[in-house]
Amino acid sequence: MDIEQIFGNNQQWIAEKLLIDKAYFKNLSKGQNPEFLYIGCSDSRVTAEELMGVQPGDVFVYRNIANMIPNTDLSAMSVINYAVSHLKVKHIVVCGHYYCSGVKAAMHSANLGILNPWLRNIRDVYRLHKLELNSIKSIEKRYKRLVELNVQEQCVNVIKTPDVQKAYRDRKIKVHGWVFDVHSGKLIDLKIDFDKILGDIMEIYRII
Ligand code: CO
Repeated sequence: MDIEQIFGNNQQWIAEKLLIDKAYFKNLSKGQNPEFLYIGCSDSRVTAEELMGVQPGDVFVYRNIANMIPNTDLSAMSVINYAVSHLKVKHIVVCGHYYCSGVKAAMHSANLGILNPWLRNIRDVYRLHKLELNSIKSIEKRYKRLVELNVQEQCVNVIKTPDVQKAYRDRKIKVHGWVFDVHSGKLIDLKIDFDKILGDIMEIYRII
């Protein structure tokens, strides 16, 4: 696809929006009031809005390699702070995806330069769940399970932040763990037991 095509697409998109609602962009420019914060992978196949079937203004989006929330990542921490404490989103979604190359890379022994510290966060997830993961014989199934466990651990990282702890105490904000199956297009709710995880970790991580 060439660049000209993209600007052509943009003109067509504007025309389509205005055909349905003449005030579409006037209203869009008034501000945003999204109910969701979506944290997902940068993978080009996992487009947040399209797979959720939502419109501009519905979801505040943060994407990086393998949907990670390291506690020292200023960008991730700023996104969570702004979404939770200023936009007052009601839900935070961490959405991983099967066949994630970031997760796959962390399962292999390789020196990937600047990617090493980032991927090490996924290796830490593997270490935390080593017994379960090593008991899975099929490499593909183990890979898929690591994707799920990584989502779970990133939900835990989200809960460790003071903004989320405060929003949970004050207005019962919800944290969800999802996986997108690139193979079928299906969005899967991992049904992470938020209250149980909270009970397990708050003894150590409570700061509010
Ligand atoms: Co990925």
